Amino acid sequence: MSSNDKSGTFQLGNFNLSRLGYGAMQLAGPGVFGPPKDPGAARAVLRQAVTSGVNHIDTADFYGPHITNQIIREALHPYPTGLVIVTKVGARRGADASWAPAFSPEDLTQAVHDNLRNLGVDVLDVVNLRAMFDVHHPAEGSLEAALTVLADLQRKGLVRHIGLSNVTAKQIADGRRICEIVCVQNYYNLAHRTDDALIDELAAQGIAYVPFFPLGGFTPLQSSTLSDVARGLDATPMQVALAWLLRRSQNILLIPGTSSVAHLRENLAASQLTLARQTLEQLNGIAP
Ligand SMILES: NC(=O)c1ccc[n+]([C@@H]2O[C@H](COP(=O)([O-])OP(=O)(O)OC[C@H]3O[C@@H](n4cnc5c(N)ncnc54)[C@H](OP(=O)(O)O)[C@@H]3O)[C@@H](O)[C@H]2O)c1
Repeated sequence: MSSNDKSGTFQLGNFNLSRLGYGAMQLAGPGVFGPPKDPGAARAVLRQAVTSGVNHIDTADFYGPHITNQIIREALHPYPTGLVIVTKVGARRGADASWAPAFSPEDLTQAVHDNLRNLGVDVLDVVNLRAMFDVHHPAEGSLEAALTVLADLQRKGLVRHIGLSNVTAKQIADGRRICEIVCVQNYYNLAHRTDDALIDELAAQGIAYVPFFPLGGFTPLQSSTLSDVARGLDATPMQVALAWLLRRSQNILLIPGTSSVAHLRENLAASQLTLARQTLEQLNGIAP
């Protein structure tokens, strides 16, 4: 880990992860579909992340589809020791770039094999089952059959650890009766705090919480309070948003996404920001 990284680490199953990782979704083309305009620039971002000490990359074979994983392989294979790649299954892309559920045993098995092939590995470090009862939000529905398939692939040695994404507290509790759940990846950031109670519950259970859209995703966070705080700290609003997440709970692991080396550097420097109590209170006021 880089000596500049003050984010600390979290034990996720067998893996000791720096809390500040990288999300690869921005490396595909527009709408997370097709190739990026500049594949060389995409590879450069990944190489810079690893050079800077990132040892946690989040991806999915349905980004592109296939393309993001192929770029990760081209940029980083053979992977450095200690690098953990977390992927997702449960969705497929239509020819029109749409997102559809892919939850049958055949779909899930195919997705695991697609990830193995496109990433160029014999075993996937962590696979998140991405619930699709509602594409945008957690919604109740049984994950039992799908998790049973994944647990079977885990027993066969193709998957090391299993996590859940876009899920409710009930789905996590039910899932833990089927297999060990090491992480949960849901939508959460400074302005969108539906999962506050869930994060605290997961922290007590030693389960990582990995917010997606930590910077607001497709509509980056905008708030005059955030801008004012950032100005006062001589930092950028994005850095403050990430520093707030690091302070929010020790089980939070960050995977901010970017297609830019400059933004990557900026995001990784967020761990060096210290937020005073009064500043935290101001930031806590942003969420409705
Ligand atoms: N499980 C799920 O359902 C799910 C859903 C969405 C995402 N994810 C994962 O979560 C990761 C993070 O989410 P995300 O990438 O969608 O959203 P995000 O990290 O909240 O924000 C990414 C957006 O912020 C911009 N950005 C990044 N750093 C910036 C900076 N320092 N200054 C200004 N703009 C900056 C990026 O543009 P530039 O490229 O120009 O920097 C991009 O438009 C993804 O990469 C993916 O791995 C998971």
